[in-house]
Amino acid sequence: MKVLAIESSCDETAAAVIEDGRVPRSSVVASQVDLHAKYGGVVPEVASRQHLRNLVPVITEALAAAGLTLDGIDAVAGTKGPGLAGSLLVGYNAAKAIAFGRDLPFIGINHLEGHIYANWLVEGPEPQFPALCLVVSGGHTDLVFMRSHGQYERLGGTRDDAAGEAFDKVGRLLGLPFPGGPHVARAALEGGPTKLHLPRAWMHGTFDFSFSGLKTAALHAVREEQHRVEDLAWEFQEAVVDVLAGKTSRLARELGARNVLVAGGVAANLRLREELQRRCPVPVRIPPPKYCTDNAAMIGAVAGHRLALGERSPLEEDIFTTNNWARV
Ligand code: KG4
Ligand code: ZN
Repeated sequence: MKVLAIESSCDETAAAVIEDGRVPRSSVVASQVDLHAKYGGVVPEVASRQHLRNLVPVITEALAAAGLTLDGIDAVAGTKGPGLAGSLLVGYNAAKAIAFGRDLPFIGINHLEGHIYANWLVEGPEPQFPALCLVVSGGHTDLVFMRSHGQYERLGGTRDDAAGEAFDKVGRLLGLPFPGGPHVARAALEGGPTKLHLPRAWMHGTFDFSFSGLKTAALHAVREEQHRVEDLAWEFQEAVVDVLAGKTSRLARELGARNVLVAGGVAANLRLREELQRRCPVPVRIPPPKYCTDNAAMIGAVAGHRLALGERSPLEEDIFTTNNWARV
């Protein structure tokens, strides 16, 4: 079964053709990063207008790259949330319109579930349940237990900033371009340990995270003007990775998880990948970086699994902006 998937929840316009929930036939992403860079963050109104411009060319390219026309498509999927309302509406309504016009099955997909299912796009054996998922994106940082397909229990998460948000804010403090995450990671490659120590919020007795204190400590360190940007970036990255990898590995052990699945834009971070692999007691699955950051292939992966179970979404279904793991 070939699914045309569309994703437009934030600032990437994306379309993909995915076969049987596992095989990417094409995946096209039009990033708006340059457009938002001068504002230092995503401007929702600018993002939704750009999705309107990009969407049809991106869908056309995804079909062409898969060597197909709409005649070869069996179902259509669109991201229904969480994300920016104006952005979501563009891709979601386009997906519905194609499904309606071609009389094809339609399904709305949760963006964060998509990030997790990027792990099914990797060749080789499928991830094993029960699995512990670490979802680390620009807007979310959650530890989610997955007993089987489509079942999610949130066991911890951030109480303030998401990990990606902390990377982006600290990137800005360090004078690095938007989005900060990849630039902080790049700067950290040239940095190393110094006398500077940034705090780790362990939130003992919970599997929660907090990154706002770390961000404030980074601000003070920047103001001291005694540290190289590269060393600050290094220590900040170590602090985030230490807490994320420490808590994830401990919870995986407690739960007896068979796999750890890492998901979301921050999963592209090489130090995080390395440290999770080193500390976790079970195999850690991490999608290749192009499927960690926002893309439509991951939406097609979920859609393939759900459609195979007979699920469909009514065309009346609306988008949503805030996530609830209990109702994915
Ligand atoms: O999942 P994603 O593409 O979009 C959301 O759903 O939010 O995640 C974007 C986030 C941004 O905060 C970005 O800075 C971060 O992922 N990110 C990284 C890296 N690549 C992307 N953070 C740290 N290291 C990276 N290499
Ligand atoms: Zn995302």
